[in-house]
Amino acid sequence: MTGYCLSMTVYRSAGQPTFFLKRLACHNLNSQTSVNKPGSNVGLSHQLTTTPQMEFQELDNSGVSVSRITFGSWAAGGWMWGGTEQNDAVGAIRASYDLGVTSIDTAPVYGMGFSEEIVGEAIKGLPRDKVQILTKFGMRWDLAKGDFAMKTKDNDGHDLDVYKYAGRDSIIKECENSLRRLGTDYIDLYQQHWPDVTTPIDETMEAVARLIEQGKVRAAGVSNYSVAQMQEAEKTVKLASNQVPYSMVRRDIEKDVVPYCIENHKAILVYSPLQLGLLTGKVKPGQEFAEGDLRRGHRLFTPENVKRVNDVLNKIRPLAETKNASLGQLVLRWTLAQPGISVALVGARNPEQAVQNARAMDFQLTFEEIDFINKQLRELAPV
Ligand SMILES: NC(=O)c1ccc[n+]([C@@H]2O[C@H](COP(=O)([O-])OP(=O)(O)OC[C@H]3O[C@@H](n4cnc5c(N)ncnc54)[C@H](OP(=O)(O)O)[C@@H]3O)[C@@H](O)[C@H]2O)c1
Repeated sequence: MTGYCLSMTVYRSAGQPTFFLKRLACHNLNSQTSVNKPGSNVGLSHQLTTTPQMEFQELDNSGVSVSRITFGSWAAGGWMWGGTEQNDAVGAIRASYDLGVTSIDTAPVYGMGFSEEIVGEAIKGLPRDKVQILTKFGMRWDLAKGDFAMKTKDNDGHDLDVYKYAGRDSIIKECENSLRRLGTDYIDLYQQHWPDVTTPIDETMEAVARLIEQGKVRAAGVSNYSVAQMQEAEKTVKLASNQVPYSMVRRDIEKDVVPYCIENHKAILVYSPLQLGLLTGKVKPGQEFAEGDLRRGHRLFTPENVKRVNDVLNKIRPLAETKNASLGQLVLRWTLAQPGISVALVGARNPEQAVQNARAMDFQLTFEEIDFINKQLRELAPV
């Protein structure tokens, strides 16, 4: 059943909060699913007949509407996450879809094609027009050209060099490869993964415009773009969105990208809203991560920082409990209530996590509750 629901969003204007009631398309899938225990991260015990009120948002005026919780399939591809379990990943995507998470974000570089193949497998048998595939281009591990990005290892431990490269011919070839791996003949949102300083932005965007004309891509997006880069790209193609990092502990886009996107009606798709799992409250100070997991040695996962974050999370935990929600769900709801934030891209390793993340839509936060959380977050100055 699709209807409409009202969601309160707080925009700040000249330093004063202003309230808007946003009319968002809502989707109520009538399936029997389970729900988390309050305060637990993976507990799924009670069989309920209620389903989350998923909200959908059109990306600018592109005609592409995506679920505000979108499945992020980076970890599903294993690369930089210490490997993956394919059945869990496919199951996670399908479990999300059953709860209204109809949009999936992926990229060729996630598992060197593996994440896209997993997405292709997961959507087999689903009506194509009810699923939105968001993928990317411009990170080449199989071509030494462009702007060197990093040394890495693939899922089998082989050394690789990754380059940011978004030349015209490369994009056309990448698109064909993605369509094949995904098992589809069009991509809903095609995003440049990272800016490439070796290729003029107009060359890149012309190639994307060509793919749109050919019907292989529905809308153009960028990722990790600054405001100046978005403005440059807009001279050649109409951008629907920018995909950028954002979480309770990583808020730098608030000073420039957010105001620009609000002003120019661009969608903001935020990545790592759980800060790679840190904001679920499950990480313990000193916790060891597997070889190949990017959290190993990550500055946000030092024992001191984990403790600092957990101290703040413990202050908002009682609020989560009053909502019958986990901390992760509260964090996602807070994220989606921030000005200009259209969509939270959330990764999940297995169906239990995916269900819990989708069920962040089960509740709303009032202005007072958001204000309470914001006050606690003041103790989380960037490290
Ligand atoms: N454009 C870019 O440059 C860029 C960069 C990064 C991400 N992204 C996109 O954004 C998506 C999301 O970001 P992300 O995957 O980096 O980070 P995230 O969503 O903040 O964290 C995902 C991780 O948190 C843990 N987790 C998720 N749900 C949980 C739950 N309910 N309970 C307990 N643990 C849970 C899982 O890891 P464990 O179980 O292993 O703890 C999961 O892999 C990516 O998948 C990708 O699509 C894009």
